[in-house]
Amino acid sequence: MVDDPGARAHAGPSRGALAVAAADQPSSAIALAGDDFTRLLAPTSERLARIHRQQIEREPWPDFAAFERDRYPQGLRREAARHWALRAVAEHGSIHQFSALTRALCEARVGLELLGPLARLITDEVRHADLCARMALACDPEGPQASPRAFAWPTPRAPWSDAPGASDRPRLLAWAASAILIASCLGETISRPMYDALVVVCTDPIAGQVLRQIQRDEHLHAAFGWDALALLWPALDEGGRAAVQESLRRAFGGFETTTACGFTIDQVAGRELTIGRGDAPNLGVLEPAQYAMIFFATVEQELFPALASIGLDPAAAWAGRTLYRDDA
Ligand SMILES: [Fe+2]
Ligand SMILES: [Fe+2]
Repeated sequence: MVDDPGARAHAGPSRGALAVAAADQPSSAIALAGDDFTRLLAPTSERLARIHRQQIEREPWPDFAAFERDRYPQGLRREAARHWALRAVAEHGSIHQFSALTRALCEARVGLELLGPLARLITDEVRHADLCARMALACDPEGPQASPRAFAWPTPRAPWSDAPGASDRPRLLAWAASAILIASCLGETISRPMYDALVVVCTDPIAGQVLRQIQRDEHLHAAFGWDALALLWPALDEGGRAAVQESLRRAFGGFETTTACGFTIDQVAGRELTIGRGDAPNLGVLEPAQYAMIFFATVEQELFPALASIGLDPAAAWAGRTLYRDDA
């Protein structure tokens, strides 16, 4: 039966999955044993692994085993690993956000041309999470044991409340527009120049390959958001548009808190942004001031004009933004 390629497999679990069920021990991919990011890569069954790889390996997969760990001091590797692990967790958060958006748009019964790109986005984010987690482990396999808190994988929290039901269509559409605004228009447009800069500063061939794979996708992810938001905007009533404007105000504060690394716009205003490859090794890390300057430049040069072209008021939202501090 198995030897005949024309034969159709009977329905049911694969041998590997059955062995897990028979052993009555939860798979490490499901049991919450430890909560560091390495669980993102926990094995399941051979069959699911194959399907997963077919989904995510669209480009030649980086050869993580070829990463030359000995070329770099441990402190540098651990710091880079921490950044890569945070990226893996953020990419996993994108899967969480885009799948919530997919569900809301299904309930709103929008056309399939909005769902196809979203399905691509979700697959891409799974790939990004996988790539970043493997890069973190390549940099510093001992990191998660040595400092579990620096490599934690907390439960993802969406930056919005749950979507309303389809019976309240105006609110459902406004919810979807806000989610697209936050996760795609803002999130992806901000991350794009970050990856552009990381590609420039990174000196390692494997890390560079990972960065370029992600960078290429983020262009498409932002493009989805801008078109989807422009298409939804005319369907929103006055209350819906006001809700999206309020989401913009809150999101500006949220992104500034998480991306500007504590710098204010005044602190970086007079400084010149230089992104270049230095003599020192770099495994895919920017300086905090570079993150901040890229963030403020992107807000001004890209986000403001794009948001205004749809009908939002970015200047008012920016002026009213609130920063969220851990100690606040
Ligand atoms: Fe991503
Ligand atoms: Fe993305």
